[in-house]
Amino acid sequence: MTKDNQLQVEAIKNGSVIDHIPAHTGIKVLRLFQLHKSENRITIGLNLPSSALGHKDLIKIENLFIDEELANQLALLAPNCTVNQIENYEVVRKLQLSLPEQVIGVFQCPNSNCISHREPVPSRFKVSSKDTLIKLKCHYCEKAFNRESMSERR
Ligand code: CTP
Ligand code: ZN
Repeated sequence: MTKDNQLQVEAIKNGSVIDHIPAHTGIKVLRLFQLHKSENRITIGLNLPSSALGHKDLIKIENLFIDEELANQLALLAPNCTVNQIENYEVVRKLQLSLPEQVIGVFQCPNSNCISHREPVPSRFKVSSKDTLIKLKCHYCEKAFNRESMSERR
């Protein structure tokens, strides 16, 4: 039996822990932000029991400090996740996430006629939110899309 206070994935010495990611979103977070291509040691916990969420995903990246800008991009996928910075085994900072104003080079524009697919430019969207609905408006074709309909860049 696991005790509630038992670490479910080994503690890290230095780096970042993305905690409270909704279950089934962890892999998406890794891929979208290309975290899996980093050279740092990464440990992933999927579907871990969580008192707040029922189940959660968790990602630990050693020796990488997730800054506010990247943390805010994470808010697009996992608005209520917690980003912890770890130094010498201590949690030294918990970042507050807020939605970014813009997201550059992460998603591709769902509009197949959009000029961004034919030019060597990074995708670029303006983010707006109303209640829980998050929309992204393409800088190039000016069409707006729900966050759920966005796919990753190729
Ligand atoms: N953690 C870690 N390595 C450390 C310290 C902490 O991997 N050396 C992880 C913990 O396992 C946890 C997260 O970082 O997943 C945040 O740690 P902490 O703030 O101590 O945990 P909680 O108080 O449970 O966090 P919260 O209040 O955000 O739920
Ligand atoms: Zn577009």
